[in-house]
Amino acid sequence: MKDGARHTSLNQVEAEWLSEFVRQHKPRQTLEIGLAFGVSAVYIMSATGRVHYIIDPFVNSAIYQGYGLKNLARFGLKRNAKIFNEPSQLVLPRLLDKGLNFDFAFVDGSHFFDDQFVDFYFLDRLLKIGGHMIQHDAWTGPTKTLAAWIATNKTNYQTVDSPQKTFNIWQKTAVDKRKWFQFKKFKVTTTGKISSFI
Ligand SMILES: C[S@@+](CC[C@H](N)C(=O)[O-])C[C@H]1O[C@@H](n2cnc3c(N)ncnc32)[C@H](O)[C@@H]1O
Repeated sequence: MKDGARHTSLNQVEAEWLSEFVRQHKPRQTLEIGLAFGVSAVYIMSATGRVHYIIDPFVNSAIYQGYGLKNLARFGLKRNAKIFNEPSQLVLPRLLDKGLNFDFAFVDGSHFFDDQFVDFYFLDRLLKIGGHMIQHDAWTGPTKTLAAWIATNKTNYQTVDSPQKTFNIWQKTAVDKRKWFQFKKFKVTTTGKISSFI
């Protein structure tokens, strides 16, 4: 393992919180973006005991060296993992095309704003009403910007409060009923988890 890469995974507190959240909500169809070392995947899959869709184009890269897959195998979870070794921005539209939908999505893939926006665009369509989406690294600029837009413009989502400040937790509560001309300006602040709004 390359030094310095391990910190990109969830830490123990985050992983245990995620596992507890999944155990409480009992999602049936689950998906995650960003396998890396497989920490989030191991905790999610151990909590559900079900098939889990995982998307990551760099599973076998010099940084991750297949450690994510090895960890899934070590915990006896590999058989239930549906792995897509491609960018999520290309896989998600295909899953939508297949008519799949999900109760839970954990997002910890590319942290570029454009990639995260595309991920949200498709996950929104893949997520069932009542389903949850959790975005990791809530403190990063792109994640904050996306969160500010969702909170102001996607009125069919509600935030779920949690002491886990590195996560943005969303629940889809209804279908999107925006009118074609609707757009609410939003502001991204440098402090706090989700931004303040205009
Ligand atoms: C922060 S790490 C994920 C950590 C992981 N959740 C864990 O707990 O071990 C980010 C991951 O996103 C992956 N990634 C980067 N660009 C991606 C993309 N376009 N689509 C899907 N995954 C991507 C990287 O390969 C990396 O494994």
